[in-house]
Amino acid sequence: MKVFVIGSGGREHAICWKLAQSSKVEKVFAAPGSDGISGENIQSISIEMNAHGELLQFAKEEGVDLTIVGPEAPLVEGIVDVFEKEGLRIFGPTKAAAALEGSKQFAKDIMKKYDIPTAAYETFGEIEEAKAYVKKMGAPIVIKADGLAAGKGVVVAENEEDALHAIDSMMREKTFGEAGSKLVIEECLRGEELSLMAFVHGNTVIPMVPAQDHKRAYDNDEGPNTGGMGAYSPVPHLENEWVDVAEKTVLRPMAEAMMKEGVPFTGVLYAGLMITEEGPKVIEFNVRFGDPETQVILPRMKSDLVDVLEHTLNGEEINITWTDQACVGVVLASEGYPSSYEKGRIVQIPRVDDHLQTWFHAGLKKEGDQWSTNGGRVLLLASLGTTIDEAIANTYEVLHNEKWKGLFYRKDIGHKVK
Ligand code: AMP
Ligand code: GLY
Repeated sequence: MKVFVIGSGGREHAICWKLAQSSKVEKVFAAPGSDGISGENIQSISIEMNAHGELLQFAKEEGVDLTIVGPEAPLVEGIVDVFEKEGLRIFGPTKAAAALEGSKQFAKDIMKKYDIPTAAYETFGEIEEAKAYVKKMGAPIVIKADGLAAGKGVVVAENEEDALHAIDSMMREKTFGEAGSKLVIEECLRGEELSLMAFVHGNTVIPMVPAQDHKRAYDNDEGPNTGGMGAYSPVPHLENEWVDVAEKTVLRPMAEAMMKEGVPFTGVLYAGLMITEEGPKVIEFNVRFGDPETQVILPRMKSDLVDVLEHTLNGEEINITWTDQACVGVVLASEGYPSSYEKGRIVQIPRVDDHLQTWFHAGLKKEGDQWSTNGGRVLLLASLGTTIDEAIANTYEVLHNEKWKGLFYRKDIGHKVK
C-alpha cells in the first residue's frame, strides 16, 4: 500500500514512523513533511497543507491507497470532503463533523444536548453581555475563543480583571482574528488532565491507551500555555479508575450523538478530560491525533496501525494490542517559545538505541549533514521503559548529556505519577 500523511510536525513524524513499520506498507508520503520525516520508505513531498487540490492530485497520480490527516486546520477546511468526493480513502472527519473542534460552541451544545459531562458554559457574541456574565459568575472563570486559535485561545482567569481583559483582547482587539468574534465562557474545572483518544467510524469506537500532556512551558506547570512540552503513557494514577468511565460517558456517547445529529464522525476522536472530584469532564474535543500524546502512544502500539485504520473504516471491531512498557516523551523547544524565538541554530542529535528510543522531528531543517532549528518545538525524544520511572530516566539520560544551546526542555515530565 501507499499511504499519505498530511502535516509536518512531531505527531506526523510518529504517524509516518508507525505506518512505515507495517508489513502492508510499501511507501509513506508526507506533505509537506519535513527534512526529518524521511527514511527508507518515508518521503516528504513539498505540497502545503492548505493546497487541497494539489494534495488530491498527488494522491491520485501516485495511486495512494489511504490518506491520514494530522492537524485540525485541513480537516476544518474540508479536506476529507475533497478526497471522498473523488472516491479516495481518507481517515478523518468531514468538514461538518470537524466542527467538533472548529467551533467550541458546536461542541458544547452537543455535549449539553446529550448529557456529556463538561464545564457549565454560556456563549456570547457581544462584549458587554460577556462582561456582565463574568461579573455575575465571578472568578476563577475560563474565556475561550469559539474558533481555532492554535491552542492559544483559552484564558483561565484567576480573577475578574484578567477575565475582562481577555474578553477585550479577543473581541475588541481581535487577537485571534475571527476565531474570537464569539466567546464561550465556562466554569473553571479543577483536577488533573487526561487525554483519551479513540479510532472512530460512526458508532464503532476503538479507544487507545491514555496519555497525559504537559501544556505549560516550564517546570511545575508554570509559564504560558504551549502546544505541549511532553507527555507520557500509561497514566496509572488516573487511568485504572477513570478510563472505562470516560469511554462510557464521553467517547461512545459523543460518537452516537454525532450520528444522531446527522454528522457521523470518522477519524481520531480526542477527548481532553479534567478528572474532577465528580469524575471526568470534557475540557475540549479534538478531531485528530493529539500532539505530543501520539508520540508516546504509538510507540506502545503493538498492532499494525494500517490494520487498525482499515478495520475502523470498515466499521469492524479490532482488539488493539499494547505493550506493557511505559513511554515518556520530552520536547526540546527553542528558547523564547511559545513567544518569539530565533531560527537557524545548529543542533546535534545524539544517537540513541532505536529499540528503546526515537527522535521525532517537529521543527528542524537539514543542510548538508547539519540540522538547524526551524520552529518553536523542534524535537521530541520518546523512550520506552519497564516502568514510567525507567522511561523517564532513559529520556533524561540522553537529554542531560548534551548542552542544547538555544533550546530548553522541561525537567519534570511524568512526575505527576503517584
Ligand atoms: P484547550 O485549548 O481547550 O485545551 O484549553 C487549554 C488549556 O486550558 C487546557 O488544557 C486546560 O489546562 C485549560 N482549560 C480549558 N478549559 C478549562 C476549564 N473549563 N477549567 C479549567 N481549565 C481549563
Ligand atoms: N495535546 C493537545 C492537543 O493535541 O491539542
